[in-house]
Amino acid sequence: MADSSSGQIDHVLIEERLFPPPAKFTEKAVVASKAQYEELYAAARDDRDGFWGKEAQEHLHWFEPFDTVCQWQSPNAKWFVNGKTNASYNCLDRNIDNGLGDRVAILWEGEPGDTRTLTYRELRTEVCKCAEGLRALGVNQGDVVSVYMPMTPELAITMLACARIGAVHSVIFAGFSAESIADRNNDASAKVMVTADGLYRRGKVLPLKETVDEALAKSPTVEKCLVLRRIGQDGVSMTEGRDVWWHDVVETQIGDLPAEPLDSEAPLFILYTSGSTGKPKGILHTTAGYNLWAKRTFQWVFDHQEDDVYWCTADCGWITGHSYVVYGPLSAGATCLMYEGAPNHPQEDRFWDLVEKYKVTTLYTAPTAIRAFIKWGDEHVEKHDLSSLRLLGSVGEGINPEAWMWYHEKIGGKNCPIVDTWWQTETGGIMMSPLPGITSTKPGSCTTPLPGVIPEIVDESGQPVEPNHGGMLCIAQPWPGMLRGIWGDEKRYAEQYWTMVPGKYLTGDNARCDDDGYYWIMGRIDDVINVSGHRLSTIEVESALVSHEAVCEAAVVGRPDDLKGQAIAAFVTIRDREPDEELKKELRLHVRKQIGALANPDDIRFTASLPKTRSGKIMRRLLRDIAAGHEATGDTSTLEDLSVLASLKDED
Ligand code: PRX
Repeated sequence: MADSSSGQIDHVLIEERLFPPPAKFTEKAVVASKAQYEELYAAARDDRDGFWGKEAQEHLHWFEPFDTVCQWQSPNAKWFVNGKTNASYNCLDRNIDNGLGDRVAILWEGEPGDTRTLTYRELRTEVCKCAEGLRALGVNQGDVVSVYMPMTPELAITMLACARIGAVHSVIFAGFSAESIADRNNDASAKVMVTADGLYRRGKVLPLKETVDEALAKSPTVEKCLVLRRIGQDGVSMTEGRDVWWHDVVETQIGDLPAEPLDSEAPLFILYTSGSTGKPKGILHTTAGYNLWAKRTFQWVFDHQEDDVYWCTADCGWITGHSYVVYGPLSAGATCLMYEGAPNHPQEDRFWDLVEKYKVTTLYTAPTAIRAFIKWGDEHVEKHDLSSLRLLGSVGEGINPEAWMWYHEKIGGKNCPIVDTWWQTETGGIMMSPLPGITSTKPGSCTTPLPGVIPEIVDESGQPVEPNHGGMLCIAQPWPGMLRGIWGDEKRYAEQYWTMVPGKYLTGDNARCDDDGYYWIMGRIDDVINVSGHRLSTIEVESALVSHEAVCEAAVVGRPDDLKGQAIAAFVTIRDREPDEELKKELRLHVRKQIGALANPDDIRFTASLPKTRSGKIMRRLLRDIAAGHEATGDTSTLEDLSVLASLKDED
C-alpha cells in the first residue's frame, strides 16, 4: 500500500464480495426490511421536522414539551427548542419508570478480575450520590467538570451525575499527559476535576493522581479535585482544601437527587479532539439532540433486543465511549459490559474470555484491535466458545478487507453481520453503517447513511461529483446529534466546518459512492492522522517536537502501519546536538510529556533540511512517500539530506 487512502481505493476496485444478512437475523431485526428503511429514510429527508419531532416525543422524556423541532441558520442549529429534558433521566429514571429497574445496566470487570454488577436502580442511586457529592463541592449548572479516570463504573457514574445536575463534563482520556490535561482544563475553565489514585494497565499501576497534581499546578480555575480510590496504595498526596476522597464525599450521600429539568440545548459535554491545527478543539454537544441521536442510532445499528449483552470496548475518554458505552445503550435500557483493562492481560485471550463468560451478544470494537488479535494468533480465539455472539461492529478507521474477513470468520463464525460504522466526534453518533438485518455488506465499506443523514460528495469547487469518483464528504442537512460548536471559538467552528462548502457540514474525510449507493471512506483531506483509531493532528506533534530546545524544525506525517493503521513519522532538523539515538529517546520522551504516549513518534529521522517548495511550503506528500518506503529497522541515526530529493521533485 502506498498510503492508507490509496490502499483503500485499491480495495474498492477489487472488492466485489457481498455478504447478505443471515435470514434468521432479519426475522427479528429492529429494522427488518428494506422498505422499512426506505420509509424511515424518506420521512427524515422529506419531512425532517415532522420525523424528528415524533422521534423525540417517543424516545425521550420531556419535563416540558418543545415548541419547535429545528431552528437552523447555518452554521447554528437548535433542536427541540424550549423543551426541557435530562440525559441522566433518560438513561436511568425513564427505564426504571418503564419497569426495567432490576435489569442489569452495567456488568463490569476490572483488569485484575474484580467484578461489579449494577442494575438500573442501583446505577441511579450511585449517580445521585455522585451528583449530590458534586453539588457539595460547589458544582452548579453550567460548570465544567474535568474527568480523568480509569474505565470503572465511576467514570460512567460521574458523566451521568454531571448530566443530572446540568454540569458539563469534559472527559480526558487517561493516557494524556499533565500538559494536555492542563490545556483542556484552562480552555474549558474547568471548576472541578474527578480522578482516581491510579489505574491498572497490563498488570502495572499508572499513578493518575500524580499526573493530575502536575496538571492542577497549571490549572488555576480548578477549585476541587475528587479522587476515587481504585488502587488503594498508600502515599497518595492529597492537597488540603482542594483534594477530597470519593468515599468521603460521594459514598456518604443519600442518593435520591431528582434530575434537573434542562433546556434541550443545555451543554451536555465537551470532548477535545484534534483538528488540522496544533490546538485540540473542544467539541460541544448539547442535551436533547445528542441524546436522541445516540439512542436511536444505537437501536438501529446494534439491533437492540431485550436479552442482548452488549459490549463496546472503547474507553469513555473517546466519543465512542460517550455515545456507545454510556448515553446510547443506557437510554435504550441495554445491559452493557464494561471492561477496565488491556486486551492482552493476563493473556492475549482476555476479550474472548470475557465474551464467553458474560455471553456477549454484540461486540463493538476497532480495526486496530482486530489486527492485533490476528497477529497474536487464532489459538487465543479458538480456546473459547463465542457462540453467544450475533452481531459485530467496527469503528474508528476503515477496516481493511483482510481484517474484516478474519472478524467475520474467526469471531463471528460466519454467522454475524458486521456493522462498519462511520462517524466522528463532531457527529455525536453513527452516520453511515449497515443495518444488520437488511444491508448486504461489502468488506471495507460503511455502506449507506442512516435516516436523517444526507451525504454529498463534492469537488473543490463544491460541486457534486459523479458516482465512483472520490471527493470531499459533506453532510447537506443538520441532524439532531451534530456538534453545536467549538467551546469558546465560534469563528473556528464556522470556518472549519461550514465555510469551504457553504452551508454544508464538511467532514474532513474523502469518500466515494459506488453504483450501489455504498460509501467508501478514503482518508482525511487535512493534516489529521489516525493512529490506532485515535485522531491526531500532525501539527500538534510538530509543535511538541519544536518545543524541545534541540529542534529547529519538524515535519510529521502518517505512514502505513500494519497494526496501527497509521504510524507517526517525524522528520526533524536540529541544532547544537549530535543526531544520535540518545536524542531520539529524549524527543520521544518529550512528546509523551507534551501530549501523551499515544503521540509517541514511531520513526524519528534527522535531516539537514526539510524539503520545501519554492514558496517555502513543506512537501508533505514527498515526506509521506519517503516515510512509507522507510525500512522497519528505522533506528540508524544519520543526518539525511532530503533537499536533494526535494529539488528533484520540484523539477517534475
Ligand atoms: O477519518 C474518519 C475516521 O475517524 C475520524 C473520526 O475520528 P474521531 O472523531 O476520533 O471519531 C472516531 C470514532 C467515531 C473520521 O473522520 N473513521 C471513523 N470511523 C471510520 C473512519 N474511517 C473509515 N471508516 C470508519 N468506519
